[in-house]
Amino acid sequence: MTPRTFEDILQARYSRRRHIKHILMAGAAAVLPSCDGETAASKNSSTLTFPEVPFGFDDTHHVAQGYRADVLIRWGDEVVRGAPAFEPGKPDASAQSKQFGFNNDFIGYFPLPLGSKNSDHGLLCVNHEYAQGHMMFPGFKHQFEEALNAGEAQLRAEQAAVGLSVIEVKKENGDWRVVPESSYARRINVSTPMNITGPATGHARLVTSADPTGMRVLGTLANCAGGVTPWGTVLTCEENFQDSFWGDRDRAAELAPAERAGWDSFGAGFTEKERATPWDAPVRRYALSGWSRIDDRFDITKEPHESNRFGWVVEIDPYDPESVPKKRTALGRIRHEGATVVAKPGKPVAVYSGDDQEFQFVYKFVSHESYAPDDRAHNMDLLKSGTLYAAKFNDDGTGEWLALDMRGGSMIDARQTAEAAGATHMDQPEDIETSPVNDCTYVTLTKNRNRQASETDAANPRPVNYWGHIIEIRPPAVRGGRNHTATTFEWEILALGGDPRDMSENVPGRPHANTSESGWFANPDNLVFDPKGRMWISTDGMEDSGEESSYGKPIHDGLWAMDVDGEGRALPRHFFGCPRGAELTGPCFTPDGKTLFVSVQHPASEGRSTFDAPSTRWPDFDAGLPPRPSVVVITKDGGGEIGS
Ligand code: FEO
Ligand code: CA
Ligand code: CA
Ligand code: CA
Repeated sequence: MTPRTFEDILQARYSRRRHIKHILMAGAAAVLPSCDGETAASKNSSTLTFPEVPFGFDDTHHVAQGYRADVLIRWGDEVVRGAPAFEPGKPDASAQSKQFGFNNDFIGYFPLPLGSKNSDHGLLCVNHEYAQGHMMFPGFKHQFEEALNAGEAQLRAEQAAVGLSVIEVKKENGDWRVVPESSYARRINVSTPMNITGPATGHARLVTSADPTGMRVLGTLANCAGGVTPWGTVLTCEENFQDSFWGDRDRAAELAPAERAGWDSFGAGFTEKERATPWDAPVRRYALSGWSRIDDRFDITKEPHESNRFGWVVEIDPYDPESVPKKRTALGRIRHEGATVVAKPGKPVAVYSGDDQEFQFVYKFVSHESYAPDDRAHNMDLLKSGTLYAAKFNDDGTGEWLALDMRGGSMIDARQTAEAAGATHMDQPEDIETSPVNDCTYVTLTKNRNRQASETDAANPRPVNYWGHIIEIRPPAVRGGRNHTATTFEWEILALGGDPRDMSENVPGRPHANTSESGWFANPDNLVFDPKGRMWISTDGMEDSGEESSYGKPIHDGLWAMDVDGEGRALPRHFFGCPRGAELTGPCFTPDGKTLFVSVQHPASEGRSTFDAPSTRWPDFDAGLPPRPSVVVITKDGGGEIGS
């Protein structure tokens, strides 16, 4: 096949856009704010008015002038009543199982009481994505060395440090604090019992020696992003679960292909080079945890099905601390970045999810049953059954949701099922969010350094995509919104990541002409919308992207905000910068838009930084304390909505 040039792709794209414009002008779908990609801004007219943060790369965080950014809770702080005080460098699984976990990620806000819109008092569900032993404990030069040498006490403490925390938070006299000894407080980690629900329940490939039913799992891990349902549950997503599993490569090679599920059944995601050496590169690459040395279930040669029990979306009721979490197999087993819900009264629920690896797919689950706003018990089972789709992005700006076969355990291998269906290989799909104003859906593609020129398409137009991009999906317009259960859509690149100086003019999605010096972003990861429908984008990788761009130096990761409609469409503005070595995750607004919670994850994780010699001791700056991942709460001086 002759490789298409970027110009060929643009040609197909623009022909389609002219066609869409013609339809829109005929009045077929003019029921919503634009979200039509046709607004060419000629002046700086962003609705976001904060003064921008300059680019930097230093020891601490930075927020736009006129705002306050305070640390709310840090790794090791008390979550559950009776938690001992944090003791730096001392591994203590029992203490850790009551303390705030490591590497906080997704944050969901749940108003108290349930069903209210209280923006001053609620619960936060916070994911703890993974443990980094060499940053948590002394004596290790890097993560690989730690994985091979850490002792049992340390590995047990790491197991207790992942999963998620439920904390109660309250605003009093303008200050947010964690409510001590809350009856809602809870830690969930790799030892918490949970149930498997949906089509893969009890499947032979989910059976282990500890669980002959294939219905009951211990724990959740690799909890990256997530989602909040309107019935008051959190969806926590198991992403890079393979990092926790280990196996001897020669022994693993003797297993039947279906038994190697944590590894080579995930081979569809490997690059050509990795596929050529399946028992070499992946093993070295994924041996990030030493847990298999204390726990056979994390050794796939001893317990080959255990890894099949991870990679799911897990639904948890934070209002009931005794509730048993549910793994939702109807949403497929992938490296789920997040799971964001669109629920309309009387209609089936849609849940969007990205699979965070180069060349992987964008998914949408549609429930069989409909959402009933006044029937929580009914809604609590909505995610048990439905149809899973993967996205096909056509070059002409149309797209299709391809229904995936749910039979015969195919949900365990959702990647392969999506591949066989003909889904589009994307540039590492991460978070997906739907605007509360225009009802369009947005997908971040964080990067893809392995895409060759011959593999580009209109939705992934850049070979060696260092900087990522954001795609706007427009479900068909219907009265009062858009139809998120439809199997067709239209799409457009909303914004390309990267330094505008590195791009040619007139590229779709090129940064807005009025983008400031620190206004451009790269490696978009998490998204959230504020109540006015402005998009907030957190990044993962600006350190490298700054060096790879014309800017030429590392840049802190952080938070950018931009309009998606009107003259400020796709004009990003820089709001928050992280301390060095950290990525920003989990941005989350209270319903009134006056408080923004963010996760500062893995501070000081750069270069040769370790527990013993960290590159910053954020946030305490105490020589006796290591850097600590923390949740930061942002408010506007004098109150008021964030951003405007
Ligand atoms: Fe856990 Fe995709 O970041
Ligand atoms: Ca992420
Ligand atoms: Ca999000
Ligand atoms: Ca990421």
